[in-house]
Amino acid sequence: MAALLDIPLRTSKPAYQKVTQPLLGSGQVRRGIHRPQDVVAWDLPVERRDQPVKSVFPDSGVDLLIVQGDSILEHFREPAKVTLRGTLRDSTMRYAAITGWGACMPPAVLTNADLSTFLDTTDDWIRSRTGMRERRISHASAIDMATVAAKRALACAGLEPDAVELVIYGSCSNDEQVPNSASGVQFALGARRASAMDVNTACTSFLYGLSTASAMIRTGVVSNAVVIGVELISPYMDWNNRNVAVLFGDGSAAVVLQASDRHEGLLGEELGCDAEARHILRVRGMGCAYANRNVVLGDTQWDFDGQEIFRRAVHGMTRASKAVLAKCGVTADQVDLVVPHQANLRIIEAVVSRCGVPMDKVMLTVERYGNMSAATVPVALAEAVNEGRVRPGSLILMPAFGAGLTLCAHLVRWGDRVIPLGQTDAALPPSAKTALEMVNEIRALKAQAAVRSAAGLAAPRLVETA
Ligand code: ACO
Repeated sequence: MAALLDIPLRTSKPAYQKVTQPLLGSGQVRRGIHRPQDVVAWDLPVERRDQPVKSVFPDSGVDLLIVQGDSILEHFREPAKVTLRGTLRDSTMRYAAITGWGACMPPAVLTNADLSTFLDTTDDWIRSRTGMRERRISHASAIDMATVAAKRALACAGLEPDAVELVIYGSCSNDEQVPNSASGVQFALGARRASAMDVNTACTSFLYGLSTASAMIRTGVVSNAVVIGVELISPYMDWNNRNVAVLFGDGSAAVVLQASDRHEGLLGEELGCDAEARHILRVRGMGCAYANRNVVLGDTQWDFDGQEIFRRAVHGMTRASKAVLAKCGVTADQVDLVVPHQANLRIIEAVVSRCGVPMDKVMLTVERYGNMSAATVPVALAEAVNEGRVRPGSLILMPAFGAGLTLCAHLVRWGDRVIPLGQTDAALPPSAKTALEMVNEIRALKAQAAVRSAAGLAAPRLVETA
């Protein structure tokens, strides 16, 4: 295609250029959904790809077709007046297909009834306000969970650890700040050739990681990646605060991305950040703003304006979903499955209803797992594939929001395969403790720390107040 037009390839900015010569067929036939601003190759019969377009369509006088799937979106008849809009794609440009998926959920279940043994709350309140019945509490570290999830995803993809080129670890609950967590997974996998990067955008971390890995594959920096969403929230939960303690759980999942010439994987995304409201969701006690202030690590205080987060989440996820659908030229009824961030059933219902997608097209895990922050979307995605809700070629919309307040929506086209190529016996070490026992242990430790931490938690150095 490069010989046809003098338009920079792979530019992310719209390109405008007048066409002053007849266009020739490119030999690259692209089918499927294209973003409307993309200038795509025209859909020629294979045997006529290298012929001048006018001779392929002798009666129409057509010089350029912009196609979407099998439909002609636009055609131009007078080459001298044609203005091309958007990015001209290099025919060698690759896509990043999702070829492996795997979740690792800790086995211990914390029910609403368990929570009501130490909080002034009820099963009825939690279910009616959030849709949650239970969540998981992990006895293992976040890196342990992430490693098992990554091993399962790699087995599913049929990819050996030493072939992995990039590990992205999406989370806001790292085992350590230095070294990063992705390097811990790289080490535990034995993925010696891989680069390793943490992404922290809170609940959207997995999806921001998916964007990063897809872009690196599409630009040829790497040819595959493991993208993880994992969260170990229970150690730093403020278990005395019923406003937040009922909402969150631990868990992890991973996907494997591999370069592909087929138009699949991430088709488009909308990323954003509602930073003027970053103060309405803050976990005090994590990070250098609290260093040397007598704060015991793990003793936290959550700033959490639930109603305002709810309102902004609905608005942000809806706006991002509509934007990515428009970018990709996809209508709501073409979406086969929505795999949303699972912070609250009512948020999900409000978002999909505003987007015009029925609830029977939504994958829900919120009842069983609560809000696992970065892990909710990949866990729901892995379970949706395993339950047969993802079919070859499915169009999947994944909207999310998180602290920051980061927000996004991703549109993915699934590939041909919905059956794992292989399996692994990788699993978490066994544990005999119940979830309530683990939570009560954490609560007892926090009770000793609380007095010492109070002053430091109240007066961090923050960007909003500096
Ligand atoms: N049990 C019983 N009562 C409770 C509980 C509880 N667990 N929590 C709060 N209440 C009380 C409140 O104190 C309040 O009582 P009051 O009227 O006497 O003051 C009452 O219930 C109503 O509280 P509301 O805030 O009005 O309840 P609402 O219907 O808005 O639901 C909720 C609260 C569930 C937190 C909702 O606002 C929500 O889901 N917000 C979004 C939160 C979210 O998604 N956070 C994830 C952030 S993602 C990330 O990045 C970490």
